Amino acid sequence: MFSVTCIAPVNIAIVKYWGKRHEELILPINDSISMTLGTNELCAKTTIAASEGFQHNRMWLNDDELPVEEDSRLMRCLKGVQRLALANGSQKVSLSWKVHIASRNNFPTAAGLASSAAGYACLVYSLARLYGVPINEELTTIARQGSGSACRSLYGGFVQWHSGALDDGSDSVAKPVVSAQHWPNMHVLILVVNDERKKTSSTKGMQRSMTTSQLIQHRVDKIVPERTANLKKAIEARDFPSFAEITMKDSNQFHAIALDTYPPCVYMNDVSHAIVDFVHSYNETIGEVQAAYTFDAGPNACIYVLKENVAKLLAAVQKVFPNDATESVEYLRGISVSATVEKHPAFNGTLNVQAKNLLKYIIHTKVGDGPCQLSDDNSLLINGLPLSH
Ligand code: DP6
Repeated sequence: MFSVTCIAPVNIAIVKYWGKRHEELILPINDSISMTLGTNELCAKTTIAASEGFQHNRMWLNDDELPVEEDSRLMRCLKGVQRLALANGSQKVSLSWKVHIASRNNFPTAAGLASSAAGYACLVYSLARLYGVPINEELTTIARQGSGSACRSLYGGFVQWHSGALDDGSDSVAKPVVSAQHWPNMHVLILVVNDERKKTSSTKGMQRSMTTSQLIQHRVDKIVPERTANLKKAIEARDFPSFAEITMKDSNQFHAIALDTYPPCVYMNDVSHAIVDFVHSYNETIGEVQAAYTFDAGPNACIYVLKENVAKLLAAVQKVFPNDATESVEYLRGISVSATVEKHPAFNGTLNVQAKNLLKYIIHTKVGDGPCQLSDDNSLLINGLPLSH
């Protein structure tokens, strides 16, 4: 039996991917740019074992076995990496052997964070390691077929997914913009919002936007090209205010397209909108843009903020969104923040204090690196079965 264990990061889009030109190959209608988050706080971990003795391909996600269907996205990724292994002549592990896959997230799935991006990136990266396939742009075309946003999780730092123009999708690849080391003090506070409502999945939501939104094509033709170019300039120059403005405007535009969809896709809730208001009044009070929100297909906020401003922003978040659990380690997760926070006199009276307990918890993380392989003692499988079996 051969086995590998790897971890892969979550990424959060700054210029959003929304809409496909090819459903099966997962080809997007526009370029997108994301930032990869640190794996210490958020990651998917996957072990893949291959053995002559296995009867079927099997998969366990967070310990629950899932059926592996022939036309699933998982099988498309498996066949895709096997095709690359064949083309590369790498025959480390026999392609005829079945595989057992176990995957876990180190963060609660219920948090509604981008778990599919990290999960498929980890699957494809682990398969590449298992079969001895090089980690390169071509591999991102396979990850893309698991979940579009997954292709961006194969790199650290800031990453661009190029929509490409070819029908076969071979030029629809993710490429690094800059590594995590370029802007190491770029941090993120994820505000996990208390919310029970089931949302329309990204896949379904963007299908519906493609057929009904009258604004979506305008975004693709007139907005995204200039926005991606300007965002890359802001990242290269480490220009936070420009970065922040583009981030917030693109989040708002993505949700405007979601609302222009018919019936509308409503992903943000009242708490999300209170967070938007809070960030704008916070920046105004300080007299400088020091925080930038972005929301994916759910109500949780990711707030980009430079390291030196984290403590001040967090103090303001705690003031505006009071919580009974503020003091507990469960409430404030991730990178620790020094408790000595200067009180900004201007905050008194300028920020609207909200009702208690609107947030479930907060995760503090930062820009991070791409996937990596771990040693065998991290394996999630023993003799080909999950540890819990
Ligand atoms: C709002 O990658 O989850 O997070 O390709 O259908 O699997 P599929 O969709 P997915 O969509 C992500 C949408 C988004 C924006 C983004 O990450 O760019």
